[in-house]
Amino acid sequence: MSDQSATRAQSLFDDPRITQARQLMLQALRDHQAELTDPAPPINALVADYQQQLAAFADLRGGGLYYPYLGSGLGAGALVELGDGSVKYDMITGIGVHCFGHSHPDLVSAAIDAALRDTIMQGNLQQNLESESLCQQFVDAAIEAGSNLRHCFITTSGAMANENALKLIFQKHYPADRVLAFEHCFMGRTLALSTITDKAANRQGLPLTIGVDYIPFFDPADPAGSTDRAVNALKDAIHRHPCRHACMCLELVQGEGGFNVGDHDFFIALIDVLKQNNIAVFVDEIQTFGRTTELFGFQTFDLAQCVDVITVGKLTQVCATLFSDQYIPRPGLISQTFTGASSSIRAAQCIMNHLRRGKYHGPDGRIAQIHQRFIHHFHCLHKRHPDWITGPHGLGGMIAFTAFDGSPELTKQTLAALYDEGVIAFLAGADPARIRMLPPFAVITDQQIDTVCERLEKALEKVAAKL
Ligand SMILES: Cc1ncc(COP(=O)(O)O)c(C=O)c1O
Repeated sequence: MSDQSATRAQSLFDDPRITQARQLMLQALRDHQAELTDPAPPINALVADYQQQLAAFADLRGGGLYYPYLGSGLGAGALVELGDGSVKYDMITGIGVHCFGHSHPDLVSAAIDAALRDTIMQGNLQQNLESESLCQQFVDAAIEAGSNLRHCFITTSGAMANENALKLIFQKHYPADRVLAFEHCFMGRTLALSTITDKAANRQGLPLTIGVDYIPFFDPADPAGSTDRAVNALKDAIHRHPCRHACMCLELVQGEGGFNVGDHDFFIALIDVLKQNNIAVFVDEIQTFGRTTELFGFQTFDLAQCVDVITVGKLTQVCATLFSDQYIPRPGLISQTFTGASSSIRAAQCIMNHLRRGKYHGPDGRIAQIHQRFIHHFHCLHKRHPDWITGPHGLGGMIAFTAFDGSPELTKQTLAALYDEGVIAFLAGADPARIRMLPPFAVITDQQIDTVCERLEKALEKVAAKL
């Protein structure tokens, strides 16, 4: 055995030349970011090539992008530069991925750390020390939140985290082969998850892979009635298929479904029935994690002791399945060549540190403040123009409203007008469709929220003028 006190890798990471190079790179980043202060139009000289590249990409992919958006690779907080040099406020952040905004110096620094690692990707036989540390961070946070989720398996996408969760659950509950899920849920796009996701278009032409029984979601306009309806539907499904349900999949705030917010008593009423019938409680937190008023959605709804398996993703950069002792899989069930890129693992560690140490959560945390500020603007807008905007919907960093009648046409027109005003948001739900925002809550300023809402009013005005 050697009497060295650190690995050779650690000496590399601590080499003063690396420290100096990092400082230089971060200084250069800050200098160039300083030019990004406001939304800006495209740079004339870049427009033609950019359009060509968008068209080529659409052809390569076999379908166009929703927005003519290809990032240049630079941003500054809530602002992002596109490949044509235009600059926009990013209020959707890759659908909830970049909650630290664009080109955050700590995340760039994490990527520099990762660039020094010996491998680009980690997984299966190739995992470095930080894979263990990250799993420990997720588990520590989950235990601190009051759950029994002592185990963690990381992966590259929300869909894979959900697939892994379902495999753990089915194996434990064999021979149960059905699941329960909420109407309008979204779980991902694998064959199994497209079956569970309650959207016809997403499973058009696909074989159905899992038996699913749907339960209606909470209705804030009728808490008691909607709870009764859901409990009855649940009991009915269990009665029809006795001992066949392995789990119920719960989104505590429905993301793609329209930012529909659940309720503690509602969930408890369902969970009581699930527990009586030995059906696992699986909470999909791919979209809610970090973003409701607590770190975990199950904390916000006070369900920590009830959850058996959960998944997290999006803003963590690495996705993960967390599970209690009862769900430890038998060898062979779960493994992946890629569980994450070294850069996404380092970024996830950095983000988890920020989220756990920062003042984001709690009733007066930054996320709650941001929510209130948006909601205040939406209320003022509604007062001035009752037909243009209604709602609001959502919770914490999940913010939505209905534009006009909520028809897909007017919602899309509003999104397009908003994009032209320099603000990127997105659709959620259907009938009515809503406009949702997942703003970069760690970096957005109050003044930027005010500006975004001024631009929203202009966008609504443009659409209204054509009605
Ligand atoms: C609740 C929920 N589950 C699962 C997924 C799938 O995640 P991914 O797109 O990373 O596979 C999403 C993605 O939007 C989601 O919102």
